Amino acid sequence: MEHPLILAIESSCDDTSAAVLAGRKVMSNVIASQLSHRLYGGVVPEVASREHQEKIVAVVAQALETAGVDRRQIEAVAFTRGPGLAGSLMVGTSFAKAFALARRLPLIEVNHMQAHVAAHLIDPPFPEFPFLCLTVSGGHTQIVLVHSPVSMEILGETVDDAAGEAFDKTGKLLGLPYPAGPEIDKLARQGNPVYSFPIPDMPGYQFSFSGLKTAILYFLQRQQELDPQFAEKNKADICASVQHTIIRILLKKLQLAARETGIRHIGIAGGVAANSGLRTTLQELGREQGWQVYIPQFQYCTDNAAMIGIAAYFKYLRADFVLQDVSPDARMSF
Ligand code: KG4
Ligand code: ZN
Repeated sequence: MEHPLILAIESSCDDTSAAVLAGRKVMSNVIASQLSHRLYGGVVPEVASREHQEKIVAVVAQALETAGVDRRQIEAVAFTRGPGLAGSLMVGTSFAKAFALARRLPLIEVNHMQAHVAAHLIDPPFPEFPFLCLTVSGGHTQIVLVHSPVSMEILGETVDDAAGEAFDKTGKLLGLPYPAGPEIDKLARQGNPVYSFPIPDMPGYQFSFSGLKTAILYFLQRQQELDPQFAEKNKADICASVQHTIIRILLKKLQLAARETGIRHIGIAGGVAANSGLRTTLQELGREQGWQVYIPQFQYCTDNAAMIGIAAYFKYLRADFVLQDVSPDARMSF
């Protein structure tokens, strides 16, 4: 087996995940998604941290078993330090610290958003450095200039809602279950983008999605007054239109960044990168623009510990370790 054997833990939001990597190879990637938040239409932080606590031991045990690795063989422990929900991060951080302390192992902190980008380094074809990565998740929307696996720079990000939030909030307006991204993706494939919503005019590489949410709300209110069945009858077309608008907002800035930096190696990452519309539209745009496009496998787009493990692997090579006094950083940036 390749070395080092790294145990990676992810607990920043509502997925409890553990992975074992042998060198760069993912030996296991166990993800326990919390479904209880569906009852509330969004993640309830207190519920999330309690569920992490209940599940983490079993999730780690399963990751070790699937990998065929004994816990005594593990050579380093990696964990998400932030950004994320403070209580949730605390569970993964404490677990990783305790594991490392008990076995006297090096401890590696990982930035969750950098790990989403690092998901590109799990399976070939690997992007050439430097590359641009559009990272789109439930809490963040960033254009990242990736110099190397351990050196990244945020060129621009959202000033309000994230792209994933735009999906989730639209879903709430339409009465779809949380998280609504995958459901909107599915419905959008059955509809057409017949309704138009404004594309915000933001400076540089900044994004804004709160105006879109308001535009959708007013649009639905107006239409429902005329026909109370409007949303129900036109769900697929509404989803296709909203998704189309979100994709246009995202790709407009990505195109600007590619043009201004001259970089032609382009990737997407994060939960929204699982969106089928975004994936195909980016491929088409890439062909048209002469870009080399990189899209991680579905399982490495939404939150998972394998991406934490691969980010940690490159830090391990540089002996970039942290001490036991490390604590979670809910607003961690880079
Ligand atoms: O990266 P992620 O799993 O967690 C965070 O770090 O936030 O991203 C979750 C977000 C949610 O907003 C979810 O609705 C969205 O990713 N998402 C999608 C799809 N799958 C997940 N959005 C659009 N289409 C999808 N297929
Ligand atoms: Zn994430």
